[in-house]
Amino acid sequence: MSTWPDRRLLDLLGIEVPILQAPMAGASGAAMAIAVGNAGGLAALPCAMLNSEQLRSEIEVFRAGCAGPLNLNFFCHVPPAADEPRAARWKQALKPYYDELGADFEAPTPVSNRAPFDEQSCQLIEQLRPEVVSFHFGLPPADLLQRVKAAGAKVLSSATTVEEALWLQAHGCDAIIAMGYEAGGHRGMFLSDDLTSQIGTFALVPQIVDAVRLPVIAAGGIADHRGLVAALALGASAVQIGTAYLFSPEAKVSAAHRHALETASASDTALTNLFTGRPARGINNRLMRELGPMSTLAPRFPLAGGALMPLRAISEPQGSSAFSNLWSGQALRLGRRMPAGELTREIAQKALAVVGR
Ligand SMILES: Cc1cc2nc3c(=O)[nH]c(=O)nc-3n(C[C@H](O)[C@H](O)[C@H](O)COP(=O)(O)O)c2cc1C
Repeated sequence: MSTWPDRRLLDLLGIEVPILQAPMAGASGAAMAIAVGNAGGLAALPCAMLNSEQLRSEIEVFRAGCAGPLNLNFFCHVPPAADEPRAARWKQALKPYYDELGADFEAPTPVSNRAPFDEQSCQLIEQLRPEVVSFHFGLPPADLLQRVKAAGAKVLSSATTVEEALWLQAHGCDAIIAMGYEAGGHRGMFLSDDLTSQIGTFALVPQIVDAVRLPVIAAGGIADHRGLVAALALGASAVQIGTAYLFSPEAKVSAAHRHALETASASDTALTNLFTGRPARGINNRLMRELGPMSTLAPRFPLAGGALMPLRAISEPQGSSAFSNLWSGQALRLGRRMPAGELTREIAQKALAVVGR
C-alpha cells in the first residue's frame, strides 16, 4: 500500500491524509468538521463568531461524531479603539441604502461580533484540550500562547509573506499555513497592511519552505487532487482547503451565497474591506461594486460590519446578497457539490496515486 512521501505534518497532528479543513467563521461548523475528520483530514471549528456556550456545544457534537483530532481556530486581532467620526462617516456612506431599504438610520449601530483570543478563550482551551489550535492575524500575547502550548495543543497560524512565516516560527508556531493571494476569506496578514506585499500560492509556498524549518501547509486556490500534488511538489507537507468545502452540503452558507458560488466566474472575486474592515476575498456584489471593493471609509476590523447589519437583516430574507459578504477564493469554479468527507477522500486518493511511495 502506498504512503505519503512527507509524514511530518501527519505525525505532528495525528491525521491520516494531508488535508486540513479550513476553519471558516460563519460558514462551517461541527457537521463539516465531523465529515472531514472521519475522512482522515484535520477537522476544524472556527471560534471567532461563537460564544463559549456555543463553542462547548459544537465541540460536544464533534466529539460524539468523530474520534479524530480537532483544530480550534481563533482570530487574534487587537480590537480597535472606538472612532466615532469614522463610524459616522461610514454610516453616512451607507445612508442611501438605509433609505432604499427603509432601515432605521437613527437606531444605534449594532456591534459586529468577531472577538479576539483572550483570557476566557484560553481558559476554555485549558479545559477542553483540543489537539490543535490555529490562529488568524498572527498569534496571541506570549503568556496566553504559552498556556495554549502547555495545554498540549499544537499551534498553527497563517503567513501571507516570508517575513510573517519567519515571525511565526520565532514566536512558537509548530507549523505554518502559507496563505496565498488566491485564498477565500480574510487575508491572515499581520505584519503589514500593504496589499501589494501579498503573494500567490505558487510563489509563496516554496519561498516559505526554503526560509523556515517547520512543516508548511499550503492554502489558497487548492480545490482538487491536482492542487494537493502541486503543493507537495512545492515542498508543502499538507494543504488547507476552504472554498471547495463551501460547495458541500455541510457548509453553513445562505442560499444566496451558494447561488453566487455556483454561478460566479473565476475572475469575479476581489479583496474587499467593506464587510469587516480587513481585506478578505469574496465574490463581487452590489456593495463592492458601488463603494469599493476597498474603501478608506470602512472602520477598522471588525467594526465595519456593524452598520451593515440592519441592511443585511432586511435584504437577506428577500434573497438578496447585495450587502452580504460572499467569501470565496479564486478557485471557485473547481468547486463541486459533494459531501465534505467524500471530497476529502477523493482528493487524497487521487493525489496518493500520483505521489505515493
Ligand atoms: C468562507 C470562508 C471563511 C473563512 N474563515 C476563516 C476563519 O474563520 N479563520 C481562518 O483562519 N481562516 C478563514 N478562512 C481562510 C481559510 O482558512 C483558508 O486560508 C482559505 O480558505 C484557503 O483558500 P481557498 O479558499 O482558496 O481554499 C476562511 C475562508 C473562507 C472561504
